Parts: sequence; structure tokens; C-alpha cells
Amino acid sequence: MYDLLKGKKGIIFGALNQRSIAWQTALRAHEEGARLLLSNTPAALRMGDIQTLADICKAEVIAADATSIEDLLTLVDRAVEHFGGKVDFVLHSIAMSPNVRKAVPYEDIDYAFMQKTLDISALSFHKMMNVLYNKDAMAQGGSIVALTYIAGERAFPLYGDMAEAKAMLESVARSFGVKFARKCGVRVNTVSQSPTLTTAGDGIKGMNEIYRYADKLSPLGNASAEECAGYIVSLFSDLTKKVTMQNLYHDGGFSATGITEEALDIFNKGLEK
Ligand SMILES: NC(=O)c1ccc[n+]([C@@H]2O[C@H](COP(=O)([O-])OP(=O)(O)OC[C@H]3O[C@@H](n4cnc5c(N)ncnc54)[C@H](O)[C@@H]3O)[C@@H](O)[C@H]2O)c1
Repeated sequence: MYDLLKGKKGIIFGALNQRSIAWQTALRAHEEGARLLLSNTPAALRMGDIQTLADICKAEVIAADATSIEDLLTLVDRAVEHFGGKVDFVLHSIAMSPNVRKAVPYEDIDYAFMQKTLDISALSFHKMMNVLYNKDAMAQGGSIVALTYIAGERAFPLYGDMAEAKAMLESVARSFGVKFARKCGVRVNTVSQSPTLTTAGDGIKGMNEIYRYADKLSPLGNASAEECAGYIVSLFSDLTKKVTMQNLYHDGGFSATGITEEALDIFNKGLEK
């Protein structure tokens, strides 16, 4: 470990269980010297095992529904009070689509569900930054990161309306990135992560096949949640102070690959069958 976050204070949204990307990020941030506040919905706090993580990281836990401005206002006030000062970094690791969960076909999407998908998975990022910005709660030169997936940019039919949510999330990072940079030198980026076997991932029909496909097509193989945590910590650190408004791929090279000989071989064998 490198003490990359020594003296820094951060809020991590979205740790549900050990498989969560946010869980692994909290562990890594703690190991790198950060003080943490963890947040999730009241239901997730009951269902998940966040107190175990809080005990390891010596972190405070505060319930908040990230779609509720009221909850976010209370959370940010309590964070500043708890830390005794402004926040250095924030992780948005939140997503949920009722359409994907209920396997509603994309072409017959339920629009009320879609509003929920967008509110939870994209607007919550805007709301979070709106509250941090208006309360002047981010420290000079801080860092805000949200997690995304390549389906926000290319067609991945099984990803349903989460694709639209991720496209919006990435755009919000760019637009708010300008505001935060000008106000207090805060960076805002999205990390486009490989398919990862988590609870949110389980909700996607065909997730195991998508995972295997991406693993074979990525020259370095899929990136794990632990590896993603390391990358996110580098973005929270002072080593990346001029990186902002970017969608950063953490996917073993998947996004830049057309075909590999290995994948072609598997495809041809399938055709022969
Ligand atoms: N798993 C993957 O394959 C993968 C790939 C790329 C990006 N991502 C993204 O990573 C992020 C984290 O997902 P994960 O894979 O670690 O799964 P996860 O299920 O562990 O985390 C999702 C979290 O969102 C929280 N959440 C849902 N509704 C909320 C709300 N209204 N308010 C606050 N929190 C809420 C859940 O309680 C949960 O903790 C998501 O944005 C996801 O889209 C995941």
C-alpha cells in the first residue's frame, strides 16, 4: 500500500456485500489511509452486510436513498460534521433497472419503470453533485467518480434501458465536471468497468455469457472488482489532478478490441458445430 489517500475523507455510495465494487473500493481506500462514510438505501442496509465493512474500515454508515434530495441534504451535512471539514472524494456506485430485473423486453419497455431506472442510475448522480455543489461541501482539488458500462456507448441488447441510464450518467459527469472544475478544481469522471459478477450484475439475463464473452475478447481478460477499486483509488488520489470529464475504460482492453485470434477460433468452432 502507498498511503495514496492519507488524510483524505470520502463518501462511498453503493456497498451492498463483498462482491460490490463499492465494497472493494471502501476496503482499498481504507488501506490507503482514507477516512470513510458509507451510504446505501435503508432496505440495502437491512439486507446487506454493510456493518461488517464499516467495522473493518472504522467508517460511519448513513442511510440515504440517492434519488431523494432531502436524504442527500441530510447526508452531506452529516458527512461534513463527521469529518470536521469538506469531503475529498465521492464514489457513486449505484444502479437498478426494474425493466432489466423483470426481464421486460426492450422493444416493449415499461416507461414508468424506465423513469425509475433513469432516476436511480443517472439522475441520482446529478442530484448528489447538486447537493455537494450548493453546500460547497467538496474540498479544493477533490475527486468524484461514478461507475458505468460500455453499453452506454454501444449496443448491448441484454442491458435494456440501463444503456440509456449509463449514457446519461456519462454526460452528467462531463457537464458537472465543467462546473466543479471552475468552482473548486474538483474532477468528475466515470469508470467503464468490465462485466463483474455482483448482485446488480446478477439481474442481467445472460450475465454469465456476457462475462465469458468479454473475458475472451479482452486481451488482458476481465477486470475484477478488486482491480477496479485500485483504479478508482488512483482517481481519488493526488496523482490524477488534471484528469476530468472523462469516461475511463477499466476493461482489460475490451473497448479497443475488434477481434482476437482466440475469440475467432471459438466462433469458428461454434459455426462448425
Ligand atoms: N457488475 C457489473 O458487471 C458492472 C459493470 C460495469 C459497471 N457496473 C456499475 O457498477 C455500479 C455498482 O454495481 P455493482 O456491480 O457493484 O452491484 P451492487 O448490486 O453491489 O451495487 C449496486 C448498489 O446500488 C444500490 N442502490 C440501488 N438503488 C439505490 C438508491 N435508490 N439509492 C442508493 N443506492 C441504491 C444498491 O443497494 C447496491 O448497493 C453500478 O453503477 C453498476 O451499473 C457494474
